[in-house]
Amino acid sequence: MATGAKKPKTVFRCSDCDTDHNKWSGQCSGCGAWNTLEQQVSVAPSRNTPAGIGNSKVTTLDKVSTKRIARLSTGLVEFDRVLGGGLVPGSTLVLGGFPGAGKSTLLLQSACKIAETNPVLYVSGEESLEQIADRAHRLQLQTDKLQVLAETDISAITAIMERDRPAVVIVDSIQVMHHPDIDSLAGNTTQVRECANLLSRFAKRLNSAVIMVGHITKSENLAGPMTLNHLVDATMMLSSTDDARYRIVRSDKNRFGSVAEIGVFAMTGAGMKEVRNPSAIFLSKSNKELPGSIITVLWEGSRPLLVELQALVDQSALGNPRRVTVGIDNTRVAMLLAVLNRHGGIAVHDQDVYVNVVGGIRVSEPSADLAILLSVLSSLRDRAIPPDIFAFGEIGLSGEVRPCANGQERIREAAKHGFKTAIVPAANAPKGSIPGLKLIPVHSLQEALDWALESLRPTSSSHRE
Ligand code: TYD
Ligand code: MG
Repeated sequence: MATGAKKPKTVFRCSDCDTDHNKWSGQCSGCGAWNTLEQQVSVAPSRNTPAGIGNSKVTTLDKVSTKRIARLSTGLVEFDRVLGGGLVPGSTLVLGGFPGAGKSTLLLQSACKIAETNPVLYVSGEESLEQIADRAHRLQLQTDKLQVLAETDISAITAIMERDRPAVVIVDSIQVMHHPDIDSLAGNTTQVRECANLLSRFAKRLNSAVIMVGHITKSENLAGPMTLNHLVDATMMLSSTDDARYRIVRSDKNRFGSVAEIGVFAMTGAGMKEVRNPSAIFLSKSNKELPGSIITVLWEGSRPLLVELQALVDQSALGNPRRVTVGIDNTRVAMLLAVLNRHGGIAVHDQDVYVNVVGGIRVSEPSADLAILLSVLSSLRDRAIPPDIFAFGEIGLSGEVRPCANGQERIREAAKHGFKTAIVPAANAPKGSIPGLKLIPVHSLQEALDWALESLRPTSSSHRE
């Protein structure tokens, strides 16, 4: 063979984690998965000749036009909010969720809305066109502008995209799509990834926004697990609240917006209805006083959210007592328990501690610290915290209570929902008084604990005036 011409190198790539191997083997050395290695042909870059520069042009950043990207509204303010202001032309989005979460319903509603002003192609590989039409009529959607197509061959879909140039394409779902040139079943990682890849190439080239529906499998990942996440611009999840009344859209990744925003909908007989002020949807309707339970105010993106925290503290039979958390970081709770011991003089080293955030909410900010320790104390001492009390505040390692961002807004929101007593960082206390609200500003954990031990009576029917 002539020297210089580089022989294409064969590699075996894991379809789960993309680790390359020189030889085939049954198990991937990168992630430990079995039977995931697939043969790929790649051309290694030559060491002697520099890669062709072609038409590539280097410029300074100030010369790049900063014309604002015009976004397309989905017709649903709550959906737009999570997207970061609407769909970005040329971008790709995966909307994930368990079967029955309402992905098709949400997207059909959006599609009909967008179609009033821009061309939209809705491709269904799961439902027949009759089923979709039937649903649209039931939801009283305007259907005369929406282009629909029942198809699972991705090359046929991209050909239609090329011909019709729709502004938005919805593919429901990516797991039933297949590429005729790929010798593997629809839903397999290779198929899902190649179909998504092809769609994103067409999205960029034609400047269309592509939304792919992805079902979550039992392992709570999209089929073709993280493969889609790094291929697309945004990954959103649609989930249901515990009582199944509400649906929440949140983003795991978003190149064009904040991942802290959530969008809330109510699933009704007439489809998904937006919930514009969802701050209190996670509060339980019962006014029972239960030891270990307390309300805190989180900040989700740009809005306050009232949530209930529960702690259960129980004598441990183990040498190494349990710290089990749901919806909040385990390490954070372990750290808070150390502060409780060191600066509050309350030891739980012989107790199992369970902490739960009610409603499937994930707490990712430290503002829940104070409420967590009050709920732990409440359970430990069997003293119920009246349901009209709320608390928030970050706790530092020296036992100080630090202020939280948007403290005033959090307090006002809780007062609006009828809360009567606020245990909050002193630095967050409003200057003036808020009618009907008693403020307990605290500088340290010790002050908050002193207040709780003095005010809360050791029965579950205790009442505070
Ligand atoms: P769907 O959008 O088909 O879910 P997905 O595409 O995520 O699998 O939603 C199905 C569920 O929503 C189903 O259980 C029925 C319910 N639903 C309503 O409650 N009201 C409605 O108006 C519609 C269309 C569906
Ligand atoms: Mg569906």
